[in-house]
Amino acid sequence: MALKKGVDVKPATGKLGILMPGMGAVATTFIAGVMAVRRGLAKPIGSLTQMGTIRLGKRTDAKTPRINEYISLAQLDDIEFGGWDIFTDNAYEAATRAGVLEQKLLDQLKDELEQVKPMSAVFEQAWVKKLNGPNVKKGATKMDLAEQLMEDIKRFKAEKGCDRMVAVWCGSTEVYRKPTEVHATLASFEAALRASSDDIAPSQIYAYACLKLGVPYCNGAPNMSLDPPAMIELARKNQVPVGGKDFKTGQTLMKTILAPGFKARLLGLQGWYSTNILGNRDGEVLDDPESFKSKEVTKLGVLDHILQPELYPDLYGHFDHVVRINYYPPRGDNKEGWDNIDIVGWLGYPMQIKVNFLCRDSILAAPIVLDLALFVDFAQRAGMHGVQEWLSFYWKSPMTPSEQLYPEHDLFIQLMKLKNTLRYTKGDDLITHLGAEYYD
Ligand SMILES: NC(=O)c1ccc[n+]([C@@H]2O[C@H](COP(=O)([O-])OP(=O)(O)OC[C@H]3O[C@@H](n4cnc5c(N)ncnc54)[C@H](O)[C@@H]3O)[C@@H](O)[C@H]2O)c1
Repeated sequence: MALKKGVDVKPATGKLGILMPGMGAVATTFIAGVMAVRRGLAKPIGSLTQMGTIRLGKRTDAKTPRINEYISLAQLDDIEFGGWDIFTDNAYEAATRAGVLEQKLLDQLKDELEQVKPMSAVFEQAWVKKLNGPNVKKGATKMDLAEQLMEDIKRFKAEKGCDRMVAVWCGSTEVYRKPTEVHATLASFEAALRASSDDIAPSQIYAYACLKLGVPYCNGAPNMSLDPPAMIELARKNQVPVGGKDFKTGQTLMKTILAPGFKARLLGLQGWYSTNILGNRDGEVLDDPESFKSKEVTKLGVLDHILQPELYPDLYGHFDHVVRINYYPPRGDNKEGWDNIDIVGWLGYPMQIKVNFLCRDSILAAPIVLDLALFVDFAQRAGMHGVQEWLSFYWKSPMTPSEQLYPEHDLFIQLMKLKNTLRYTKGDDLITHLGAEYYD
């Protein structure tokens, strides 16, 4: 492939503001985690931007810098945190309530965490049935609410002295609704905002406000925030990078690790039954069938795309895939997932694999928030805009730049694509893992 001589990337000078709509378990575990790492109290385990390396050239070249030395990324010390929530709890109170991190650690960070106070939210209970809170904006129309969010962003940027801003949705999962004609174009969407259409979800108002101001936006929930054509049109028009959707953690992460292995060895699949118990607020929200429907859609798509039944009808032409989430308060954020996988080997002999993953949801999600914020800021400085497919690595349901393209779910292909994109921006050779030595 003929490579350009790298890409001009603007330097990461000054401060980066990271704004999160939704400051619950994931957002506060991320914020407190970065603060702890900055003070040398803990390590940023799970974060590619902080601990990952990238191989350059041949294996014999022994050149493997850390990713954050290879490309220009914002430094952790240069990050300012902000966001919105329907509850007034500051980040210390919200993190304490979430119960993910030990109180001893939170108390060490108390002064700093207390400074992070949520701005009032754009919220409508019709979209998250199980929640209601006091810290909610009022506005004459949905366009008025979008303008209030834009004012919040500008004020935050000025007050904190940020050079650049990014946003990562860490709010609740909204009910499942397909886009309608109001989402078809930017013009129809803006008209619908002015008319306060019921078809517009709060998460779409945040996305709109950010994109209007040129703030890159990542969607950590399965909500249809960025998918509608109107949003993609706005992202392209304002040259803003976007990414989504639904952080790939827990059970789906395991699925995208295991399924490519089965396919690589051409082991067939009869069925995959996944169930979870979860006791945090996210679990409570997902206890509502309409919010769960959004999750189910992003969780179920994974296997079809990895296994490609149309290419392997004998192996994957028919399998049963079931996903359940059960709200079980005693478990808190420490989710437990069970998978029963019925696979098929040589001559059609059946086998079973059982996976019991005792994970910590927000511990898996926090490094993803960090990486996405830093990478999407990098993308903007590198002049990339629209859907950032190279960040598929982080998503349960990766968006693609066009409807004709199917998403890539295989974690290992996703990682290769991510690293090759970074190599491309530097003008370095892409690594294809071709055994070229046989042909020398
Ligand atoms: N933790 C994971 O592993 C994981 C993985 C994938 C996706 N997610 C998604 O990330 C999101 C956050 O998860 P969590 O565990 O932190 O949930 P959480 O319930 O602890 O936090 C969500 C917060 O969003 C707030 N909120 C809801 N609607 C809002 C709005 N319109 N504006 C502002 N704030 C709003 C809620 O009040 C709450 O504080 C959820 O949608 C979840 O499904 C989490």
